[in-house]
Amino acid sequence: MFHWLEKQPFLFSVGVFLVIAFAGLIEIVPDFAQASRPIAGKQPYTVLQLAGRHVYIKDSCNACHSQLIRPFKSETDRYGPYSLSGEYAYDRPFLWGSKRTGPDLHRVGEYRTTDWHENHMWEPTSVVPGSIMPSYKHMFTQNADIETAYAEALTVKKVFNVPYDKEGFTKLGSWEEAKQSALEEAKAIAADMKNQDVKDAVARGEIPEIVAIIAYMNGLH
Ligand code: HEC
Repeated sequence: MFHWLEKQPFLFSVGVFLVIAFAGLIEIVPDFAQASRPIAGKQPYTVLQLAGRHVYIKDSCNACHSQLIRPFKSETDRYGPYSLSGEYAYDRPFLWGSKRTGPDLHRVGEYRTTDWHENHMWEPTSVVPGSIMPSYKHMFTQNADIETAYAEALTVKKVFNVPYDKEGFTKLGSWEEAKQSALEEAKAIAADMKNQDVKDAVARGEIPEIVAIIAYMNGLH
């Protein structure tokens, strides 16, 4: 019936293109719609968690760790329920990663604690004998960049409508308010830590990177 089309190379190419494009759209479009829809109850990151996220990116944690649990029994047994697209609605950029030198971290907040992270970041082999993960001692003295994190939160609120300050969602407020609540959050974390220099820094109103990255990891559920 379509033999005539085979003698029309141009029309034939257009036809092939249309068929593939249509099939592609059917596959892709629903995902676009889903990705922009946060799962129910998903909260935007606090300013302190965002600062921790920046440390995570800066120190290339994502070069060795994924944040994407695939729907295989071997993964859900180990890491918890598989990841859903709506869980990444506030992740800019997403940190799925493509290499697992270390374990997946998408739900690490469910099974690791502040004091565990403190020991592990200072010296991974102290809690996991034989660990090949590098230690990150500089995080205990270097301060996190809270101001940039606040600027990012403000930006995604304006540009992408991330629901900061909406009824029932993470409060952002003014810079002064945000700084204050980041410090409150940092104090609660420092209270569970043993490093005296970190405790002293937080008491002085500073926020070392280790506190920010722990806030971020404790929030990964
Ligand atoms: C060179 C690769 C490498 C890099 C870079 C790296 N890790 Fe790891 N990580 C590992 C390996 C390997 C393990 C497993 C052994 C262990 O627990 O120490 C691990 C384990 C972990 C665990 C424990 C997870 C679990 O389920 O037990 C956490 C949390 C973690 N890493 C966080 C980080 C953070 C945060 C960074 C960035 C500051 C980072 N890692 C950078 C390789 C890496």
